[in-house]
Amino acid sequence: MEYKIVLMPGDGIGPEIIKEAKKVLDTIAKIYGHEFSYEELLLGGKSIDVYGEPLTDVAIEKAKKADAVLMGAVGADAKTSPWYKLDPEKRPEAGLLKLRKELKLFANLRPAYLHNALKESCPIKEQFYQTEINLMIVRELTGGLYFGERNTTVESGIRKAFDTLTYDENEIRRVAKKAFDIAMKRKKKVTSVDKANVLDSSRLWRTIIEEVAMAYPEVTLEHMLVDNCAMQLISNPGQFDVILTENMFGDILSDEASMLTGSIGMLPSASLNETSFGLYEPSHGSAPDIAGKGIANPVAAILSAAMLLRYSLSMDTEANAIENAVNEVLNAGYRTLDIMSENKIRVSTEEMGDLIIKKIQ
Ligand code: IPM
Ligand code: MG
Repeated sequence: MEYKIVLMPGDGIGPEIIKEAKKVLDTIAKIYGHEFSYEELLLGGKSIDVYGEPLTDVAIEKAKKADAVLMGAVGADAKTSPWYKLDPEKRPEAGLLKLRKELKLFANLRPAYLHNALKESCPIKEQFYQTEINLMIVRELTGGLYFGERNTTVESGIRKAFDTLTYDENEIRRVAKKAFDIAMKRKKKVTSVDKANVLDSSRLWRTIIEEVAMAYPEVTLEHMLVDNCAMQLISNPGQFDVILTENMFGDILSDEASMLTGSIGMLPSASLNETSFGLYEPSHGSAPDIAGKGIANPVAAILSAAMLLRYSLSMDTEANAIENAVNEVLNAGYRTLDIMSENKIRVSTEEMGDLIIKKIQ
């Protein structure tokens, strides 16, 4: 059976890291006898340059017909790039948001896992996490502030702007179910993060989460206010298994959590809908400052490819093979610049990809 994978390398370091991830997928195909067909589509700034918009309808339709999408990153330096002179809805990031919305990718999975070999890159002292740092943020991705009504106006000469945070119970329920399902395969603990001491949307969130939790008696549920969670991620990150939260809180907390692992360059992500279809992308951005230099860390993109195999193609063995290979390469001391430390072997983007491939073989 042939699987259709759409590649959207995007901007900045996107193309360099997706190239390595594709090499890894090709290796998996060869070893395990799968057939992957690829189609490369433009997204973000690259699409603006060619079509005048960050995501075309044709690209959306093609993505919808694929089994999965592997994406790089979008965006550039907002101070210098001409893309940021455009209206907000024409900018690179708008393409990504449209893609998430059009494909109904309501559940965003962002693991933060501290590899043993990278403990010295973790800014938190070991005494604060005792056991291990291995958490999964499940971020609601198609609702909340990102997609609420907003406007900027001038009233009596005063400039004014608003954004709205809305959730209905179905939006909360479907992402909560994903989070509890994931917790069942992990350490069976869900920390639901909200701001229920202030926000109505958070109070509804809490109510629905408790309803969903009734169907998962084995899972321990705990509620945490988002400001407290930001603190606890630093003071006691080992306590977390699955963190479930709304769109904006998840955006912020996932960047914070990523640093626990030493580098955001290590972290993959998956965005899922009700079907097996998924969009997979590194958690990091387009890093325009290091683009084209061959120094970007391709591990997040490669691990995103592993997530693609696991969640969209049900290929657990193949996904494990990639994840084990990454572990072995790190254990052997190879590092890209972002995770470099004393006495380790510095490698380029491409060398890192090749090393991982060799381990898989
Ligand atoms: C992310 C990014 C996006 C987001 C931006 C690029 C719109 O920060 O994927 O976390 O805020 O969702
Ligand atoms: Mg973000």
